[in-house]
Amino acid sequence: MQPVLMSKRDQEQIRQGGGTLKTLVHMDGNEHHSYRSVTNDWFKPNAVRRQMEGRVAELARKYVDRMMELGGECDFATDIARFYPLQVIMSILGVPEQDEPLMLRLTQNLLSSDDPDFREGGGRAESINAAVGKFAEYFAKVNAARRAHPERDLASTIANGRIDGHPLDEFQTFSYYVIVATAGHDTTSSSLAGGIRALVEHPDQLSLLKEDPSLIDNAVDEIIRWVTPVRHFLRHAQEDYVLGDKTIRKGERVLLSYLSANRDEAVFQDPFKFDVRRANANQHLAFGIGVHFCLGAHLARLELRAFLRELLPRLESIDFSGACEDIPSTFVGGPKRVPIRYKIKPAPSCGVMPRMVE
Ligand code: HEM
Repeated sequence: MQPVLMSKRDQEQIRQGGGTLKTLVHMDGNEHHSYRSVTNDWFKPNAVRRQMEGRVAELARKYVDRMMELGGECDFATDIARFYPLQVIMSILGVPEQDEPLMLRLTQNLLSSDDPDFREGGGRAESINAAVGKFAEYFAKVNAARRAHPERDLASTIANGRIDGHPLDEFQTFSYYVIVATAGHDTTSSSLAGGIRALVEHPDQLSLLKEDPSLIDNAVDEIIRWVTPVRHFLRHAQEDYVLGDKTIRKGERVLLSYLSANRDEAVFQDPFKFDVRRANANQHLAFGIGVHFCLGAHLARLELRAFLRELLPRLESIDFSGACEDIPSTFVGGPKRVPIRYKIKPAPSCGVMPRMVE
């Protein structure tokens, strides 16, 4: 059963067409725990800080420099936000830079198949089947290479991972590569594009951040709450449960609407206001909750923080140069186009990156 909203016809086509995956989000209990343990250490806060902070800061600078090279005008969603998180996760995974466009296309075919511009083939199921087939072909080679010659990358950890002393089988490794290679960038790209859009739409909030960079950490959570790029997941109730005035019966499907949770007026005062000083911004549920809490949450926050820390001190002005557009998606979504016009100063020449504190 697919963990996302989908017609029965699409589900059947995916089952028959070989587009089925079994990733962390499809698992429960011990199976989930053991499978997640294979990569968990990579994504703990200290590991993220120690191993990834330098590379992320370097890439943040590269993409703010790219904005400058684009001459003061770009589509921030397409030209910048789409590539920066992609390059971060691919360099952690160990996918070479020349294959990043392929990873991007396949991720869009898989996660944004609601959008005719991002799908491959006629419909949603065809797009998903085709993407899964191509991912399988690609990662089979990566897996064989890393088993033969392990490196210091995440792909080697997956390729040589063991559960109860047994190596992961082909389907397990493949599903792992796919979830990391897809969940690891589309969501963060959407948050970044949506964050810049929100800051341009709310110049008072942008000024606050420029005047007081210590607000950036909180702003990152407010941006993620505001954008909520993962719209929903589906679950099956394991037992009867009473929620408010509703009884959910064991076995029933439940839709987790992260968008709705993040606009809950019982938790967030004035939830439809974008407020970088919101006292409880970090209570959002955009990363989920419980044992399936997003594996990459610390990394995603680090990426947004690094980008804002690089951009804001260099940003002299910014405005829209056209109309923004959204990805029509019921699953992972955010802005598709954010056309902007801006002035950016060069980076300070000393080349010393500010240290990031979590
Ligand atoms: C702002 C960016 C991101 C958002 C909003 C986001 C959101 C989510 C959500 C809602 C879930 C499901 C949680 C649940 O079912 O309760 C999830 C799971 C997951 N995310 Fe993220 N994610 C982001 C970035 C990342 C990154 C950078 C990675 C990199 C590896 C990643 C990897 C994963 C994985 C592997 C899971 C499955 C965890 C499990 O089921 O145990 N995500 N994410």
